[in-house]
Amino acid sequence: MSSYKFEDRRKLVSYFKNEAKREIEYSEKIKNTSNNSVNPIVRVIMDAVSQDSIKHSKIYETMALIIESPQLITENESKKVLDDMKDHIEMEKESIEELNELLKNDTIKNDKPLKFLIEMLLRDEKLHHAMLSDIYSLLIKNITLTEEDIWQQIWNDAMYHGTPGG
Ligand SMILES: [Fe+2]
Ligand SMILES: [Fe+2]
Repeated sequence: MSSYKFEDRRKLVSYFKNEAKREIEYSEKIKNTSNNSVNPIVRVIMDAVSQDSIKHSKIYETMALIIESPQLITENESKKVLDDMKDHIEMEKESIEELNELLKNDTIKNDKPLKFLIEMLLRDEKLHHAMLSDIYSLLIKNITLTEEDIWQQIWNDAMYHGTPGG
């Protein structure tokens, strides 16, 4: 951001862009290994890692973007986006509850591959829920702050202009 020295910024941007490229290349390599594999569990895990690498690439690209355009992170989201996010957080919570129920099922308890995959889903859904909740409360706090700023501004103006009739 603005506190970075120009040289640091330039270095970080090129480092992040390079990592973004590396993650995409890695994602293709691991996808190929997955395509050559016959075991469905091995395949699904390698596919998951491949998709995570695409995700990592996007995270690196986003870090490069916010160094280059720091003003973007103070953009306010619309009410629709915030409302939709709230629904998604609820969805993630429901998934967590259902998966926890599944883990109590005797068939699943005694089937190691199934148990392994359900635990894998559960870890992801917990992470999704936590990430969405964190960013949602941050966005809400931002809006509240903005509103407080507005009220502070109104108060300051009132003090400056004096009381009505004054
Ligand atoms: Fe990665
Ligand atoms: Fe999810």
